Order: sequence, then structure tokens, then C-alpha cells
Amino acid sequence: MAYHMTPLVDLGTSVHPQVRVLLKAEWMLPSGSTKWRTARALLTAALAREPDLEGVVAATSGNLGVALAWHCERLGLRCVVACSEAVPAGKRARMEQLGAEVRTVTAEAPGRMHGRDLYRAGRLADRIGREQGLTVLRQWTDLAAVAVHRDVTAREVSAQAPVPVDIVVAAVGSGGTLAGLVQGLCDSGVSPKAVAVEPEAVKTLRTGRNNPQPHDLFGVGLGVMPPHLRDVVLWEAWGVPGDHAPMELAQGRPGPTTLACLEVIRRRAPAWSRTLGPRACVLVLGSDGIPLP
Ligand SMILES: Cc1ncc(COP(=O)(O)O)c(C=O)c1O
Repeated sequence: MAYHMTPLVDLGTSVHPQVRVLLKAEWMLPSGSTKWRTARALLTAALAREPDLEGVVAATSGNLGVALAWHCERLGLRCVVACSEAVPAGKRARMEQLGAEVRTVTAEAPGRMHGRDLYRAGRLADRIGREQGLTVLRQWTDLAAVAVHRDVTAREVSAQAPVPVDIVVAAVGSGGTLAGLVQGLCDSGVSPKAVAVEPEAVKTLRTGRNNPQPHDLFGVGLGVMPPHLRDVVLWEAWGVPGDHAPMELAQGRPGPTTLACLEVIRRRAPAWSRTLGPRACVLVLGSDGIPLP
């Protein structure tokens, strides 16, 4: 199965007059989940290790579960997903529609994302894996989750970008997407600066300290330093609340996490253009949104 190329939308200077923004619309991936590539990479790696595996189980805050369910349905594999009760009902329903069995852990903060929920979901996934003979997929530590963005997403960006990328901005969950993108762009000869975005309340990327807190940006901000970011030099890390003005593009409507990244660009553009010169090119990873009908 081929990887699908997502649009790289040139927002020009509409986000801020001092930078040019390129938005990689990952919500346009099949299944609508930004984790479509990651899920495919984790499954491919697991099948290479265990060609006869019967099914997989993974902890998720929603998007990995949707993408895994999508792939497993096509591969004829059993898919069990462990997540918090706080994961929006629509997302859980989507996983079930795609044939996944959804198991939940109690929410630390009902209706909100919390890193401790994902930790407990991870322990539940381990137990289900042991008891039911399923292969546990671990996006948090599996290097396949980085390699796919290095070898696929970054190459797409290099082929699509009209100018070299100076800065990559991404909201961080496992850190696999940001780490892979930066590595891949470096491999292609540009050395972009990495800017990480986390929920305002969490403050882990900004301080290096564990600090799980409830927030509204599902999929990111676990409050623990992600192992995938160990080898990435973060130029900057910023915290943002999850309540930004909606925006419409020809390719759809960005979601709260994408809007949080755009907010960081708005705030930082003057400082970045002082350091990097006018019209620095900023790549933003559009990890959530909905296509317009
Ligand atoms: C909406 C959204 N944005 C960003 C991310 C972060 O991606 P990564 O885990 O690669 O850091 C996720 C992860 O699930 C997500 O669901």
C-alpha cells in the first residue's frame, strides 16, 4: 500500500506579514487521522517482526486508534484500542465503526485530555496484549514512528515546498512527527529549527519536568518528556491554550491543535524574522482539521 501525499498549503503571509507559512494538511490523510502514516509504519514493523500476528493492541488518545482501526480493517487484523473515557465519543464511535474493539480507562478529568489517562491506557494495553496474545504497538518508543516522518513526510515536504524550510512548528505528543520531520529535512540538506508546541498548562517541553495536567488539545501534551525528542535540539517550545479563532481554507477547517501552532507563529514571527531575516519560511504540521464538503 502506498503512502498518500497530503497537500502543502501555501498560506503566504496571511498568518503574519513577516513570515511565509506552509501548512502540511495531515488531516487530509485517509481515515482523517494525522496518525495514518504512523499507524501504517508501526503495523509494517510489527508484521516484519511477526508475520503471523493475529492482532494488535495500542494505547491512544484517539487519532492513533482511528488510523490503526482503518489499516487493520483492510489487513484483516484484530485491533484493540485502549483509551480514556475522555476521548470524544465521536472518535471512539469512529474506531468502532472501523472494527476496533475499544477498551476504556477512567478519565482523570472528564471531557479533557490528561497524560495520566494515556499512561493507564498503556498499562491496560499491555495487559490485554499478554492475556489475549495480541501484539502491543508502542508509538512512544518504536523508532518506526519517527522513521516514517523522516523518510516519507519530510520527503514529501521537500518535493512540495517552493522555498527551503527555515522553521518547523509542530504540536508534540510522542514527538515522533516533529523528530522525523526535522531529521528528514536535515537529510535533504536544509537544517530547519524545531519549534515545539504544548498546551499552556503542561509546561514539560518548556521546563524539562514531568507535569501531566488536564487540557483540551487531544493527542498532545502528555506532560512527560517524549523519548523521540531526545536527539532533537528544540530551538523553542511554547505553550498555548486550546481556544483559537476558527479559520477556513480551501482544503478545510484546521482543528484546535493546528490552530494552536498557527497562534505560536503569530506570536513569534516578529522575533523569528529579526533572527532569520524577513519572510522566513515556516512549515506547520496541520495535525487536525476537517475537510470542507
Ligand atoms: C491532533 C494531534 N496533533 C499532534 C499529535 C502529535 O503527534 P506526535 O505523537 O507524533 O508527536 C497527535 C498525536 O496523536 C495528535 O493526535
